[in-house]
Amino acid sequence: MAKITLSIIKADIGSIGGHIKPSEKLLQTVENYIKIHGKGLLIDSYVGHTGDDIAILSTHTKGVLNERVHKLCWQAFVTGTKVAKIQGLYGAGQDLLKDSFSGNVRGMGPAVAEMEIEERPAEPFLMFAADKTDPGAYNLPMYLTFCDPMHNAGLLLSPGIKKGFKFVIMDVSYTKADKFIELNTPENIYDIAVLLRDPNRFVVESVWSRATGEQAASVSTTRLHNIAGKYTGKDDPVALVRSQKDFPATGEILSPYSIAPYVAGFMRGSHSGPLMPVKKNSPISFFDGPPIVSCLAFCVKDGKLTEPADAFDHPYWDYVRVKASKKAEEIRRQGFYGQAMLPMSELEYTGVMDTLKELEKKFIIKKSK
Ligand code: 13P
Ligand code: 13P
Ligand code: MG
Ligand code: MG
Repeated sequence: MAKITLSIIKADIGSIGGHIKPSEKLLQTVENYIKIHGKGLLIDSYVGHTGDDIAILSTHTKGVLNERVHKLCWQAFVTGTKVAKIQGLYGAGQDLLKDSFSGNVRGMGPAVAEMEIEERPAEPFLMFAADKTDPGAYNLPMYLTFCDPMHNAGLLLSPGIKKGFKFVIMDVSYTKADKFIELNTPENIYDIAVLLRDPNRFVVESVWSRATGEQAASVSTTRLHNIAGKYTGKDDPVALVRSQKDFPATGEILSPYSIAPYVAGFMRGSHSGPLMPVKKNSPISFFDGPPIVSCLAFCVKDGKLTEPADAFDHPYWDYVRVKASKKAEEIRRQGFYGQAMLPMSELEYTGVMDTLKELEKKFIIKKSK
């Protein structure tokens, strides 16, 4: 069996009633486009949504950043955008920042998480998709899953996992090219923590097994507001994580999501809110949020996907959702104040900046005698 590639490409191309969810017709349009035009290129595909973002998962043998695969997804989103416009959906074509396709979709708006793998006899993996947040939202879960035996019992129990992992971390403030660092666990876990504590700037891009050299995880690291230079919506991120054997068990990958950590995003992409684990195809609601993350588990054989198992569709996660709602309500009580709204550098609208510019003229500097 040749190597196979898992690709997730996702975009917000329009949504019903504000930034809630795509219409059924829009979702169907994207799914049909991929089914029809992906023949002969893709082995298999799955299309779903998380909040207002549509994610296309595909399997193929073409490797990562493949022009034909990326172009197929881009064209599916372009075709979907036409439907979104006809239906009068909000933000039609929101994440398609360029007029024409060139090479691959990185830097063009859609989020991408891909990996090329040597299929194991059983190949379980997880597809994460988050809305109303940004790629740094995966920092804490990735750290805890791959570095902390409080979440990953395999670090104590499984010799392969105990050998540790290599983290590739991007500095997303650098926009001229990809700027990244490679750090190994367990010896560099404090250095990794120093970077990951600042999720606006440093973002986990991928994780690799030191036991086998195989890739364990891939996260979309694009930041739309760095691409566009102005507000275009949050760069709602997707991620792929392989599980079992020399990778963490599925439950160890899910475990950190119990925390529902405060992340950047929420209303107008400019607030802090708890990351709520949700069921597949969940919409957005309270205060254009809270930030949500879905997780679909698959197995893949010769590139053929099983149906997804909805990892957060379980009574345990109902309890976490209640907890996340309480955390959301608590931080919303302080509205715009302090930690509830993001720092100036992360605000996705220019309103505050414009006001400050005006007020600056009215400030008085008292002359000392
Ligand atoms: P494996 O031994 O098949 O990796 O499974 C272990 C497991 O999933 C325990 O949670
Ligand atoms: P999206 O990035 O999900 O489109 O949300 C934008 C927004 O402003 C929500 O309030
Ligand atoms: Mg939107
Ligand atoms: Mg979105």
